[in-house]
Amino acid sequence: MDENEQLHRQDDAGRGQSTGVPAEGAADVGAREPIETRGLHHWREATITKPGLDDRGDVFFAAIEMTRMPMILTDPHKPDNPIVFANKAFLDLTLYEESEVLGRNCRFLQGAQTDRELVDQLRDAIRANESIALEILNYRRDGTPFWNAVFIGPIYDTSGNLLYFFASQLDVTRRRESEKASAQAQKMEAVGQLTAGLAHDFNNLLQVVNGNIELATTRATDDRVLHYLQSARGAAERGAKLTGQLLAFARKTRLDPRPVDVSACINDFAVMMESAIGKQVELHLSLRRNLPQAVLDPQQFEMAVLNIAINARDAMPQGGVVEVVTGKVHLNGNAAARGLAAGDYISIEIKDQGHGMPPHVVERAIEPFFTTKGTGKGTGLGLAMASGFVQQSRGRLEIESEVDRGTTVRMLFPVAAAESRPPQEPERKAILARPDDLVPSEHILVVEDSPDVLALSREILEEVGYRVSVAETGEAALDLFKTMPPGSVDLLFTDLVMPGGINGIVLADKIGAIDPDLPVLMTTGYNEDLVIEGPKASGLDVLGKPYRRTDLLDRVRQALNQRGATGQRRRQSEYGSAEE
Ligand SMILES: Cc1cc2nc3c(=O)[nH]c(=O)nc-3n(C[C@H](O)[C@H](O)[C@H](O)COP(=O)(O)O)c2cc1C
Ligand SMILES: Nc1ncnc2c1ncn2[C@@H]1O[C@H](COP(=O)(O)OP(=O)(O)OP(=O)(O)O)[C@@H](O)[C@H]1O
Ligand SMILES: [Mg+2]
Repeated sequence: MDENEQLHRQDDAGRGQSTGVPAEGAADVGAREPIETRGLHHWREATITKPGLDDRGDVFFAAIEMTRMPMILTDPHKPDNPIVFANKAFLDLTLYEESEVLGRNCRFLQGAQTDRELVDQLRDAIRANESIALEILNYRRDGTPFWNAVFIGPIYDTSGNLLYFFASQLDVTRRRESEKASAQAQKMEAVGQLTAGLAHDFNNLLQVVNGNIELATTRATDDRVLHYLQSARGAAERGAKLTGQLLAFARKTRLDPRPVDVSACINDFAVMMESAIGKQVELHLSLRRNLPQAVLDPQQFEMAVLNIAINARDAMPQGGVVEVVTGKVHLNGNAAARGLAAGDYISIEIKDQGHGMPPHVVERAIEPFFTTKGTGKGTGLGLAMASGFVQQSRGRLEIESEVDRGTTVRMLFPVAAAESRPPQEPERKAILARPDDLVPSEHILVVEDSPDVLALSREILEEVGYRVSVAETGEAALDLFKTMPPGSVDLLFTDLVMPGGINGIVLADKIGAIDPDLPVLMTTGYNEDLVIEGPKASGLDVLGKPYRRTDLLDRVRQALNQRGATGQRRRQSEYGSAEE
């Protein structure tokens, strides 16, 4: 204490008024101010002129008992620095009675999960008579934890002798939880973007790997070579499956959402599910009949249910029951808290009585690659895929779990609007085998920004006889198309996501303006717009990447046939009477 300060104290002491050293924005480093500003005026230590706790007749005492801010005083001259005063708000916060706290050191608020390093910081500050502010996990009398923003500061007499410690406590649990939730959401968003980018590039690479393996397979005659190719293909297909799960997590799957009766859907694939989860557990279905339809992609839905059911099985190594329950819920007031719009939802619950998950596992369970199953056992993509898919379908995945009691995973999907009908599937005519000697001669404009993929599709198409023109951007394709004689192109086969201003949809629009009857086949590794635009966009014919050679040839043929089916410039000669 410098001389001036000492004088100041004595001055004030002369007038019988307590004084203090202002925080000046410095004292509460490391913790948030309850007042949400940098404290400039409040004291970090005080000097009082009237020691003692017995005079409780003035307005200041009433203020302390009235405030919602918990406050206490401890006496460092008594053994173990016990509480000698606690205001009413402190009792309300901690749920203790006054008689239970007086005479005790404050550490009774600490418990199993309290960070010991923070306790050390408190001890060091108190030992040095320094003020301190930090946020520490404390427990109420009934055992419930809360985050306590505690401030502690020393109180001196006019001669500078330490008399008391003052402390205020504030329950900041809600703020911490919402900060944590938003940090987690941001993390998932970042992971999602990274995953989507990676998976998209991987899809293109796998496309090239798969395609070349297929081309090589058609040429290979040596059995050994065929065998190598087969195992390379198996690995590439597993890669494609992983990529698919990653895209699902990143909410970038090409979904084909449609109104679905989820009870019927689960019933239909129950046998498959049963054989996937094995005999070790029993599958019980409790499926509500006549539920309104939910809007979702049934194939992805099955994958999600299967992933969750397999987790349920894994949680019960001793065996048990996996129960699948369907139902309807109406959300109104509580919808926003669950991040959903108000309305009707179909719920699908998958329950087990397995080992459950502690809260820190529940928190991270949907993160991609988060697994507790040990190397080689789980990839940590099951719930990531399921939750990405549900969110992409405008629903929500919820996990409730208790250690040793079991887990319920709930998926909520919006109910289909009354008027919505299944989007008309572009009628896919059965592809009728063409006699081998009939070589197609149609002219296809292939647009693809990845040179490898472009070369591959060109090779596949030319190999069976199509004439192929290529462009690497939408702009180039449009320019090229304009130079070609009208009617000379039979099909536009274009990538959907391309750099530059003209993506696949824009290109199809622009070319459609010139030749409205030209069939269009899109291809894409992922695509959000299609999902967002829903049924309108699903009228477009889209081939997902990676595709097999045969997929490409089939879909090209279907697209070409459609033009035939509408009666435009149909090439009778090529199909003969076998067609339709
Ligand atoms: C005035 C005062 C208030 C305190 N309030 C709290 C509190 O609210 N929560 C807490 O966990 N510790 C609080 N403490 C800290 C503990 O009483 C104790 O000093 C700390 O646990 C370090 O000492 P120990 O290692 O002996 O337990 C407070 C200490 C003082 C002096
Ligand atoms: N029903 C459940 N009971 C207990 N723990 C579960 C349950 N479902 C998921 N978990 C926990 O969540 C983690 C992540 O699950 P997720 O399905 O995403 O990955 P995984 O099952 O470990 O691997 P993968 O599904 O890719 O094979 C699991 O490792 C497990 O710890
Ligand atoms: Mg799993």
